[in-house]
Amino acid sequence: MKKIYFLILTLIFFLFLCACGDQPTKANNKPVIKESQKTSETVEKKEKTSSAPKIKMTAELKRGKKMFILCKACHSVEKGEAHKTGPNLHQVFGSKAASKIGFNYSDALKSSDIVWDETHLRSWLSKPMDYIPGTSMAFIGIKDKKDQTALINYLKEITK
Ligand code: HEC
Repeated sequence: MKKIYFLILTLIFFLFLCACGDQPTKANNKPVIKESQKTSETVEKKEKTSSAPKIKMTAELKRGKKMFILCKACHSVEKGEAHKTGPNLHQVFGSKAASKIGFNYSDALKSSDIVWDETHLRSWLSKPMDYIPGTSMAFIGIKDKKDQTALINYLKEITK
C-alpha cells in the first residue's frame, strides 16, 4: 500500500511541476499579443498620417469649412480653377479688390479701394451689399462674429 501512496504523491508532484512549467509560457505569450497590438496601432497611425489632409483641422477650421458651403457654389479657390458666378479666390488675402483677371466685376467693386484683409473681409461678409453698394455678389451676409472669424481663418488656409 505504501507504494501506491508514494506513486500518487509523485504523480501530484509532477502535475504541480507541469502547472508551474506552463506559467512562464503563458507569461511569455502575453507580451507577444501586446507587441502585435502595438504593431497594428503603429500601422493605423501611419495610415492616418499618410491620408491626413494638408490643412490641420482645428475645431474652428471645421466650423469655417461648414460656413464655406455658403460660398462654394459661387467661388472656386484652387490656383488656376475657373471663375464661377463669383471670381476664383486663390490668394485673395492681400490682393486688390476686383483684380482677378477674366472676371467681370461690378463697377462698384472695381472703384472700391480695398485690399482684402481680415477687417475688410469681416465687413464684406457681414453684409456685402451694405459694405459696397452696387456689388453683384448676391449674398445675404453672415451675422455671427465667430462664424465670420472661423470662415476667414478657413479661407486663409484654402486660398494660400
Ligand atoms: C451667389 C453667388 C455668390 C455667393 C454665394 C458668394 N459670392 Fe462672393 N462674389 C460673388 C460675385 C458675383 C462677386 C463679384 C462682386 C462684384 O463684382 O461686385 C464676389 C466677390 C467676392 C470677393 C471679392 C473678390 C475680389 O476679387 O475682389 C470675395 C472675397 C468673396 N466674394 C467672398 C465670398 C465668400 C467668403 C462667400 C461665402 C460666405 C461668398 N463670397 C459668397 C458671388 C458670390
